[in-house]
Amino acid sequence: MESARISQWLNLLVCVLLLLKAEGSLVPLILVENAESKGAVCLDGSPPAYHFDKGFGEGINSWIVHIEGGGWCNNIESCLDRKDTRLGSSKQMEDIYFSGILSNEQQFNPDFYNWNRVKVRYCDGSSFTGDVEEVDPTTNLHFRGARIFSAVIEELLAKGLERAENAILSGCSAGGLTTILHCDSFKTFLPSRANVKCVPDAGYFVNVEDISGAHFIQQYYSEVVSTHGSAKNLPTSCTSKLSPTLCFFPQYVASHISTPIFVVNSAYDSWQIRYIFVPGSADPSDSWNSCKVNMSNCSPDQLSKLQGFKSEFERALSEVGDSPSKGMFIDSCYAHCQTEPQETWFKTDSPKLANTTIAKAVADWFYGRSSFRHVDCNYPCNPSCQNRVFDLKDLPGI
Ligand SMILES: *[C@@H]1O[C@H](CO)[C@@H](O)[C@H](O)[C@H]1NC(C)=O
Ligand SMILES: *[C@@H]1O[C@H](CO)[C@@H](O)[C@H](O)[C@H]1NC(C)=O
Repeated sequence: MESARISQWLNLLVCVLLLLKAEGSLVPLILVENAESKGAVCLDGSPPAYHFDKGFGEGINSWIVHIEGGGWCNNIESCLDRKDTRLGSSKQMEDIYFSGILSNEQQFNPDFYNWNRVKVRYCDGSSFTGDVEEVDPTTNLHFRGARIFSAVIEELLAKGLERAENAILSGCSAGGLTTILHCDSFKTFLPSRANVKCVPDAGYFVNVEDISGAHFIQQYYSEVVSTHGSAKNLPTSCTSKLSPTLCFFPQYVASHISTPIFVVNSAYDSWQIRYIFVPGSADPSDSWNSCKVNMSNCSPDQLSKLQGFKSEFERALSEVGDSPSKGMFIDSCYAHCQTEPQETWFKTDSPKLANTTIAKAVADWFYGRSSFRHVDCNYPCNPSCQNRVFDLKDLPGI
């Protein structure tokens, strides 16, 4: 009787331990010190934050700084909506688990597991480009994303980033865009002998007309840039020639980036399809909804429009240039952000191009073992894809 109870408890304990092992360990939230005195604060005025898991062994002087994503806010109303959420306030943030490119286990992250790994939380709504001095007392909104970027990097320098021999700036979605927009400026913070490279994931947002012929995303980005006062913090190599709005798009910035960069993206990025190519405003009758939630539901006509999107994506991507220092892993999976989820980063059944996982392609490129530039065949040709299926309730506007 008693021993049966003990063995039940032991079973439970084993289950809990297995669960913990599968999840990795919680990485605590760290608030940036002195950020408030620099005015480098989240939308609500709270200090920005990040998570840091220290490197070990041979990784002790190597760093991944990974930027969280989460869309943008393009006007006072939408910024007020996010101000008291985790995307606008560190008061709402919690400890998190690291996985994929941030995992500390060799079996899940063979080339970077022992690096110093940092995840920077996103709480400004402008991909870290904003900087407006004034704060309207009626809204108490702070537009200070660019100051947050500098304050976080300065704190990390003091924690050992200043001794980095290897460093990667990466990020997902709006954090992938941050990675592109700040790639060269990140390098300037680091020792000149350091091997510094950038890996934007799902951040190559393209300037396309939506299916109704409207310039939805261009209009939206122009509102982001003007709300946050972003113009002066966008790459001057671009803003000296083009409007700040255009310089918020990777395709007008990419050819000027001198730091090596590796673009991880789907050519049918599920976020871009749902919110840029077929935003709600372009499909008032909701005739795309079943296709947007599950790509295998798309009609032949919708699929041919999506092949057109892929062509436009590839044209925009060509601006990255073809030097061996520019790598790319462009699959045809209905996905968005593939470096942090373990399933897409490095597992036996992860998506592959040229029989190579994203983890191996990025690492081979980073260490100069081989270059990697592959754009997948058209959907649904790649059997290794893990195509996302969404809920209809995930379809409201951005
Ligand atoms: C996606 O759509 C296909 C085709 O209609 C269907 O067979 C599949 O079950 C759907 N997937 C999910 C998870 O609903
Ligand atoms: C693909 O890669 C795996 C693991 O590296 C290898 O065992 C396999 O032979 C490769 N397959 C092909 C077709 O090259």
